[in-house]
Amino acid sequence: MSAATIGKDLLGLEHLSAEQISLILDTAEPFKEISLRPIKKVPTLRGATIVNLFFESSTRTRISFEFAEKRLSADTVNVASSGSSVSKGETLVDTARNLEAMKIDMVVIRHGASGAARFLADRIRSNVINAGDGTHEHPTQGLLDILTLRDRWGSLAGRRVCICGDVLHSRVARSNIWGLQKLGAEVAVCGPRSLLPSAIDELGVTVFGRIEEAIEWAEALNVLRLQLERMQAGYIPSLREYNRVFGVTRERLDRAPRDIIVMHPGPMNRGVEIDSDVADGPHSVILDQVTNGVAIRMAVLYLLAGGQPHLAEAAKG
Ligand code: CP
Repeated sequence: MSAATIGKDLLGLEHLSAEQISLILDTAEPFKEISLRPIKKVPTLRGATIVNLFFESSTRTRISFEFAEKRLSADTVNVASSGSSVSKGETLVDTARNLEAMKIDMVVIRHGASGAARFLADRIRSNVINAGDGTHEHPTQGLLDILTLRDRWGSLAGRRVCICGDVLHSRVARSNIWGLQKLGAEVAVCGPRSLLPSAIDELGVTVFGRIEEAIEWAEALNVLRLQLERMQAGYIPSLREYNRVFGVTRERLDRAPRDIIVMHPGPMNRGVEIDSDVADGPHSVILDQVTNGVAIRMAVLYLLAGGQPHLAEAAKG
């Protein structure tokens, strides 16, 4: 299989095939080991210049991309809206074209507008990686979530994953739903109807209105953050009420008919969608997700730069 199979850009998982998703997951495997070395650096992307354009807040994704780029020896520049000419009204495309004039190779973009990554990718020559666009997609988060489950299960086929909480505002949910379904998993969502998209039934997922039903059904829960900054008003009565009705708590997991894996993409609202003794307890793989994020991003950078999947092992140096 050639590197061209994931295309010029990574904008989402909706339009990737199962083979393309598996290709990225498989390519990530040999890259995991680099982060365990005392000297966490290989020369694979030496000479490549990558710009990280983060127009929304981020801890995990921004730092994880930067680690991935540096561990592959790329040269990196970080641009945020504050402190750049975006704050003076410069358009996204003008910003990117000016960066391209300085001969860059790739852009990693996080933006508050759904479709921003596609908009940019259609207008510049550099490879574009979507690091989260509005409520649309967050493909590398979906991939690292799936890799974390594949590490536990070997295969996703026939496994049952429930995405819980604020699906309406979540780009992570969409990337997970598409990615998991393509690899053969059954996917459900659970949350108050006000936090589920009106067209959720069209995505081929089971819908649970009670967290107890979701826990009864699922082998893994992916618990989403209540995105309070994207809510105008009136989605839930109160955070206390939300925790009481939909919170993933130790008592609820103790009543589950099987061992359940608990994931969360972060940042967490502890005591709201997830209790601390779950987040830090034996069901949680939350920090494994973060660790896998670096390997996934190394794999995506490597493949978009033209790396051959079958040479990823050798590329480790
Ligand atoms: N999961 C995730 O996107 O986290 P950040 O917002 O911290 O990047």
